[in-house]
Amino acid sequence: MNTNIAILGGGNIGSAMAEGFLEAPGTDPSRITVTRRRIEKLQALADKGISVTTDNVAAVRGASLVILTVRPGQVRSLLQEIAPALEPARHLLVSVVTNFSIAEIEGFTGGEMAVVRAMPNTAVAVRESMTGLAANGPGQERIDEVQELFDLLGRTYIMEEKLMAAATILNACGIAYFLRVIRAISQGGIQIGFHASEAQTIAAQVAKGAAELLLASGIHPEEEIDKVTTPRGVTIAGLNEMEHHGLSSALIKGILASYNEIEKLK
Ligand SMILES: NC(=O)c1ccc[n+]([C@@H]2O[C@H](COP(=O)([O-])OP(=O)(O)OC[C@H]3O[C@@H](n4cnc5c(N)ncnc54)[C@H](OP(=O)(O)O)[C@@H]3O)[C@@H](O)[C@H]2O)c1
Repeated sequence: MNTNIAILGGGNIGSAMAEGFLEAPGTDPSRITVTRRRIEKLQALADKGISVTTDNVAAVRGASLVILTVRPGQVRSLLQEIAPALEPARHLLVSVVTNFSIAEIEGFTGGEMAVVRAMPNTAVAVRESMTGLAANGPGQERIDEVQELFDLLGRTYIMEEKLMAAATILNACGIAYFLRVIRAISQGGIQIGFHASEAQTIAAQVAKGAAELLLASGIHPEEEIDKVTTPRGVTIAGLNEMEHHGLSSALIKGILASYNEIEKLK
């Protein structure tokens, strides 16, 4: 990383991103500034050499890449505050804020500012996020810089902004869905004999293995499932029982329920 970064709003995702950058090889912590109003909550990052401040404008002046990580209801006042310090020739503005469009951001910054919306998840902290990126016109020319940065925190993809709500559900909420599935499998594991901590580690590693199989090969999950399901066997008995109780349907309906809520986030 050879650019100065300001992360404005060091809450869950902003702090997790800072943690992830710290883990990336060659990161100089002094190049990262994180802001929030209750600055005492950033002490752990400060202890690791990251600059922390309540002064958003000073953070913007000291950086060339500015990342907004506040809640949707907080972003207008933050943009109002920093807009005079943003220079289109120098700054690249990245917004992680849900349901706040590029057009709405340009309402504060003007259309010349390079703007990229990014939708990561909290696995940025362990550099295993999946982050979707969408840019405005000037942002398209600099999207490589943003992609390089988020590639330090996991995998990335570029999309049209109209898919950002869907990306919010799959990327950001998706972490919670999988965590709940891992928890449920751990609980099943306890009932059949493992201690809670063993069951959790087993479930998490098996989930990671399943994900790695698909990421490595790109094949359809059912092809891998076919390798595990012998005729009249135990796996297919369990899977079919789960489906009788609506496993796939529950997940799909949950994704739609989350998606239908997203417009309320303003
Ligand atoms: N959490 C996720 O997994 C995730 C994933 C993708 C995207 N997002 C999006 O990222 C945004 C942040 O989510 P979050 O879960 O991290 O929320 P959060 O924990 O509430 O973080 C927001 C932070 O912004 C700080 N803040 C608010 N106004 C500020 C200001 N004017 N100047 C400086 N700091 C300010 C708040 O701290 P103070 O009150 O101390 O200032 C707070 O810690 C949301 O738009 C969310 O939709 C979240």
